[in-house]
This record gives sequence, structure tokens and C-alpha cells, in this order.
Amino acid sequence: MQTGAGFFGSSIGKKIVMAVTGLMLVGFVVAHMIGNLQLYLPLHGGEHALDEYGRFLRTVLHGSGIWIARGGLVAAVLLHIWAAIGLTRMNNAARPVGYRELQHQKSTWSSRWMRFSGIVIAVFVIVHLLNLTTGQWHPGGEFEHGMVFHNLVTLFQVPWVSGFYILAMLCLASHLSHGIWSMFQTLGLSHPRYNALRQAVAYGLTTVVIAANISFPVAILTGMIR
Ligand code: HEM
Repeated sequence: MQTGAGFFGSSIGKKIVMAVTGLMLVGFVVAHMIGNLQLYLPLHGGEHALDEYGRFLRTVLHGSGIWIARGGLVAAVLLHIWAAIGLTRMNNAARPVGYRELQHQKSTWSSRWMRFSGIVIAVFVIVHLLNLTTGQWHPGGEFEHGMVFHNLVTLFQVPWVSGFYILAMLCLASHLSHGIWSMFQTLGLSHPRYNALRQAVAYGLTTVVIAANISFPVAILTGMIR
């Protein structure tokens, strides 16, 4: 009989953990992008919509809402990395020496690239938290707690910071499109009949998220938002 530990130790168990946590992280990235689109809203009652939104996030459920969301996110990220490392080890152990140059080349390249883009995204998130959540590293000058609009605009006015964010978003684009595609496969949508739909959803969602995310530094760098 398959035990719980046996299931999570198996390749399919790890793939399911990857897919489910990946889905949670995609949900976060989409929700975060929608929240950030408030950068384009006009002042409301003398206040920037982003500042109002930031205050809402910090006070929802008497301040515990944001900690519940953070706990869920951290758990999803850790499990996603755990499953990725486990699957890589299993693949390396199973790959027969000598076949490398033959049929495994394409999938090996793609999974290597997923690992590389995943590491870039992890570094990006750490830098991003230091830039805009804790404010310990804010190259655009003074970081002010609660002043989300001010902190974002002064940060992206620094060209190399905006350049770094845009490059990180291109890595995220590659990781997201391949990740969403594989997630559908793991969750059972692998029938050839759905291939075109899987591809449309994976590329469509990725394009919307990345175009919006890249528009933020571009709008600030060009002075459209100041
Ligand atoms: C250019 C695109 C992005 C912009 C403009 C942006 C903007 C922001 C801002 C302003 C905050 C602080 C919010 C506040 O204090 O109320 C924040 C927090 C955060 N962002 Fe982003 N973000 C971007 C992309 C991303 C991406 C792609 C990820 C994940 C891969 C991400 C993950 C996070 C996380 C984890 C937090 C901390 C949330 C918390 O626990 O308070 N961001 N972002």
C-alpha cells in the first residue's frame, strides 16, 4: 500500500506539489498585478489609490489578514522549491549515461532554464522586499513606511533599478509560460485536443501579467507617472 510519505516521495507526488503550489503563486502574481494597476488611478480624496490599497492590506482582519497571506505564500514557495529540488535529483539519478546527446536534450535544456529563471525570480523577490516592503535597500532615496506610491515612483526613477526589474520580468515570463503549460499537464489536461487551449491560456496570461508589470517602470521612467 502507498503511504503518505511514499506518495510525496514519488515523482508524481512531487509534480502535483509543484503544480498546486505553482497555481497558488500564479494566483498571487495575477492579484498583485491587479493591485499594482492602481498606480494609474487618479488621486482619491487627496490620496493615491496605491497608498489606500496598502493600508487596506495592512489592516484587513485587524492586521492578521496580511500575515495569513504571507504564511500561505512562504509555505507555497518553500514547497515549490522542495519539489523542484526533489524532481531534479530524481531526473539526474534516472538519466542513463550516454543518452544525454540524444532524446533528453530538449527536456533537459528546458528544465535547466526553469531552474535558472526560478533562481533569478527568488533573488528578485528578496531584492524587491528590501526595496518596497522593509525599505532597507531603496536606491531612489528615502523610504517612507506606508507611502507606497512615493516609494515606488522614486525607486523606478532610477534607470538601472527599472532595468533590473524589466529583466527580472522577462525571466518571470519564461518561467510562467512554461510553468502554466506543465501545470495543466500534471493536473490532467494533457489530451492533445486541449493543446491549443493550454498554449493560449499559458501565453495569454503570461503576456498580460508581464506587459502590465513592465509598464510600471516604463511609465515612471518616461515621466508619465510622477
Ligand atoms: C513591476 C512589477 C511590480 C511592482 C510595481 C510591485 C510593487 C510592489 C509594491 C509597491 C509592494 C509593497 C506593497 C505595500 O507595502 O503595500 C510590493 C510587495 C510585494 N511584492 Fe511586488 N511588485 C511587482 C512585481 C512583483 C512580482 C513579480 C512578485 C513575485 C514574483 C512580487 C512579490 C511581492 C511580494 C512577495 C511583496 C510583499 C507583500 C507583503 O507581504 O507585504 N512583486 N510589490
